[in-house]
Amino acid sequence: MKVLVIGGGGREHAIVWKLAQSRHVDKIYCTPGNAGIAEIAECIEVGPDVEALIDFVKYNWIDITIVGPEEPLSRGIVDAFEKEGRKILGPTKAAAQLEWSKAFSKDFMRRHRIPTADYKVFTSYIHAQEYVRMMGAPRVIKADGLAAGKGVVVASTVDEAMQAIDLIMKDRAFGAAGDRVIVEDCLVGEEASFMVFTDGKTIAPMASAQDHKRIFDNDRGPNTGGMGAYSPAPVITPEMQEIIMATVMRPTIDGLQADGIKYKGILYAGLMIADNKPYVLEYNCRLGDPETQPVLFRLETDLVDIALAVADERLGDIDIAWKPEHAICVVIASKGYPGAYEKGAVISGIRDANKHEKVVVFHAGTAFGEDDACVTSGGRVLGVTASGADIVAARDAAYRAIQDISFDGMQFRKDIAMKAIRTA
Ligand code: AMP
Ligand code: GLY
Repeated sequence: MKVLVIGGGGREHAIVWKLAQSRHVDKIYCTPGNAGIAEIAECIEVGPDVEALIDFVKYNWIDITIVGPEEPLSRGIVDAFEKEGRKILGPTKAAAQLEWSKAFSKDFMRRHRIPTADYKVFTSYIHAQEYVRMMGAPRVIKADGLAAGKGVVVASTVDEAMQAIDLIMKDRAFGAAGDRVIVEDCLVGEEASFMVFTDGKTIAPMASAQDHKRIFDNDRGPNTGGMGAYSPAPVITPEMQEIIMATVMRPTIDGLQADGIKYKGILYAGLMIADNKPYVLEYNCRLGDPETQPVLFRLETDLVDIALAVADERLGDIDIAWKPEHAICVVIASKGYPGAYEKGAVISGIRDANKHEKVVVFHAGTAFGEDDACVTSGGRVLGVTASGADIVAARDAAYRAIQDISFDGMQFRKDIAMKAIRTA
C-alpha cells in the first residue's frame, strides 16, 4: 500500500515512523515533511490547495491519506477527498468545527450537557470588557478561530483580561479568528490530553498523555505548542477514563450525530480534571503534538489497520493494543521560541542520540542546509522520545540521549514528567 501523510512536524515524523513498521505499507509520501521524515519517506512539495493534493493521490495511486495538522481539515480537505472517493483519516470541515470555532464548540457542549467552563461569546469588545469588569478576575479570554495555540489568555487580573480582549478584537492580532471572543470561567485542576479514534459509531480510546504547555520549567513563561509529553498520565486512572468516555467522548460523537454531523478520525479533548470530574477546555480534531510521539511509541497495533477501519467505518471489528511501558518526549526548541527565533543552526549528535536503546529522535523544525547538514528550521526542532518499564526509566533514557545533541541556542525543559514522578 501507499500512504500520504500531510504535515511536517514532530507529530508527523512519529506517524511516518509508525507507518514504516506497518506490514501493509510499501511506500510513504509526506508533504512537506522535514529532514528526519526524509530518511524514511519521500518528502514532496504538493499543495497546499486540495485540488493539487487530490491530483497527486490519483496519479500516485495513494491508498490512504493521513492528515496531521488542523489547518487542512478546517479548509475541508476531507470533504473534497471523500467526494472523489479517496480514503483519508480525519473529520469533515463541519465536524472539525469543534476545533476551528471555539464559539461553536462551547455552544455545542452547552446544548449537549458536556462539562465545560461557563462562558459567554461576544462580537463586540465593549460588551466583552463590560462583562469582564462585572465578573472580575481570574478570567479566560479566547479568540474564536484558529490562532496556532496563541489565542488563549488566562488572565489573573481584570487589566490583563482587558488587554487580551484589545489584542484579539481591536488589534486583530489573529485576524478573522478574533471576530468573536469567548470569555470563560477559570478552572483549577490537573490538565490532561485524551485522544480517541472514532468512525462515528465506535470510539476507541488511545493511551492517555500529559502535555507541558509552558516554555520554562515548573510551568513558567508563555504557552507554547507543547514542550514535552508523557504517557500514560497518572491523573487518567481507569475509573477516570470511564468517566471521560461516558461524559465527554460518547456525548460528543452522539451529539454531533444528532446535529446531523458524522465525526470520523481522531478526536482530542484537552481536559481539566477538577474535583475528580473532567471538564473540556478545548477540542482538537487531530493528534496532539507532542502527545503523539509518546502515545504512538506505545501503540502495538498496526496504524494502517486502524486508519482503514476508521475510514471504512468498521472500527468495532478491530482490537487496539497498547504496550504497558511508559514513554516520554522532550522537545528541544530554538532560542527565542515561542517568540521570534532564528533558523539555520547546524544540529549535531542526532545519530548518536538515536543509538541509545529505546530512544528515537523525532524531527520537527529541521531541514537540510549546506552540504546536506541538518539545520534548524522551526521553533520546535526535535522531540527526543524514549520508553522504559516505568516513567523514571523512560525519562532517564530521554535525558541521557539529549546530552549527545547540540545546536546554537537550543533550549529544553529539564522537568518533563517530574510532577508525575514526585506524586507517584
Ligand atoms: P485551549 O487552547 O482552549 O486548550 O487553552 C490553552 C490553555 O489555556 C489550556 O491548556 C489551559 O492551560 C488554559 N485554559 C484554557 N481554558 C481554561 C479555563 N477555562 N480555565 C483554566 N485554564 C484554561
Ligand atoms: N499539544 C497540544 C496540541 O497539540 O494542541
